[in-house]
Amino acid sequence: MRHLIDIKDLSIEEINALISVAKDIIQNKEKYQRKCQGKKLATLFYEPSTRTRLSFEAAMIELGGNVLGFSSSNSSSAQKGESVGDTVRVVGGYADIIAMRHPKEGAALVAAMKSEVPIINAGDGGHNHPTQTLTDLLTIQCEKGRLSNLTIGICGDLKFGRTVHSLITAMSRYKNIKFVLISPEELKIPDYIKKDILEKNNIEYLETNSLEEYMDKLDILYMTRVQRERFFNEEDYIRLKDYYILNKEKLISAKKDLCIMHPLPRVNEIATEVDDDPRAAYFKQAKYGKYIRMALILNLLEEKHVQKYHPELPEKLVNVIKCKNPRCITSIEQELPHICVLADKENKIYRCKYCEEKIDKGE
Ligand code: NCD
Repeated sequence: MRHLIDIKDLSIEEINALISVAKDIIQNKEKYQRKCQGKKLATLFYEPSTRTRLSFEAAMIELGGNVLGFSSSNSSSAQKGESVGDTVRVVGGYADIIAMRHPKEGAALVAAMKSEVPIINAGDGGHNHPTQTLTDLLTIQCEKGRLSNLTIGICGDLKFGRTVHSLITAMSRYKNIKFVLISPEELKIPDYIKKDILEKNNIEYLETNSLEEYMDKLDILYMTRVQRERFFNEEDYIRLKDYYILNKEKLISAKKDLCIMHPLPRVNEIATEVDDDPRAAYFKQAKYGKYIRMALILNLLEEKHVQKYHPELPEKLVNVIKCKNPRCITSIEQELPHICVLADKENKIYRCKYCEEKIDKGE
C-alpha cells in the first residue's frame, strides 16, 4: 500500500508515468470507464473545496467507482473531538482509498501513519498540496510541451500557499528550471523550501516584490490568492489581499507564449479581462485536475506498492522537543508524539516531522 502525502513521495519517473496515463485517459476515456468498478473513494474534507473535492469525485465516478464522504468538519465526528487517526481507521472499513483535506499542517501524514487504505493528501493547512501539483505539471506539459527549460514566476502568497510549496518541490527536480518568486515581504517563501529544496538543489531563483520587473523573462506565471484563512490577524489580510492584480496592461511586456496559471479560486489577483487572453490557462488547468486524479487513483489502487513515503531518517528525537507551530496538527491532537528529524546535519537543523517547521533545540 502506498500514500501520497508529499510530492516527494513520487519519483520523477512516477510523475511522468502519471502524466502519460492522464494524457491517455483524455484521448481514450472509454478504456477507463470500468477500471474502478466496485471500488469506493472517500473524500474527507475538513476544509472548504470546490475543484479538489469535486474533481476527485468526478474522477472516481468516471473510472466506474463510487464515492462517499463529508465536505466540512461540522458534518463529521471531528466536531465531537474525534482524532484524524481514528476517523481514517474507521473510514478504511468503508472505502478503498481516502482523499483528505485538513486545516492543520501534517494532518495527512498522521492519517497515513494510521490508515489501512491509501491516503491522498488533498491539502494540509498551508503546507502541501501534491495533487494540485500533479494537476499543474500536467497543465505545463500539455500547454508548454515540456517540463524542463522554464522560467517560472510565482506570485502572491508564497508563505501560506500550499500549492506553491509543492510546485517548487516538484519543479526543482526538472532540468534548467529558474524561479522568480514574487511576493510582499510578509508573504515570502518559507525557510524550509528555500534551504531544503532550492538551495540544496542549486536551483536558480530570485525574490522580488514587483510583478512587472521580470515579466518579459517568464514562460509561466503562476498567480495565487492571499490565503485569508491562514492569517491570525484580519488587518494583515486586508492590507495584503490586493497587493497584486494581474491585468492586460501588466502583460504588455510578457512573452507571446506565456502560460498564465492559477490553482483557483481567484479572488482579485487576476482581472477578468485576462480570461479571454489565449495565454490564460487557469480554467483548462482545473479540467486537467480530474484526469491526473484519475491516473493517481488507478495507480494507488492497482499497484502493490511497497511503502516508500518519508523514509526514516537516522537521527530523530521523539517527545524530546515540542513543535510550537500553532498551525501544526500537534497543536490540536495532544496524544500525538512530537517527532523532530535532523533535516540538515551540517547546520544541525531539526524540523517537525509533521509540519516541517524549524525546531530550536535550545527551546
Ligand atoms: C488551492 C488550495 O486549496 O490550496 N485550491 C485548490 O485546491 N485548487 C488554492 C487556494 O485555495 O488558494
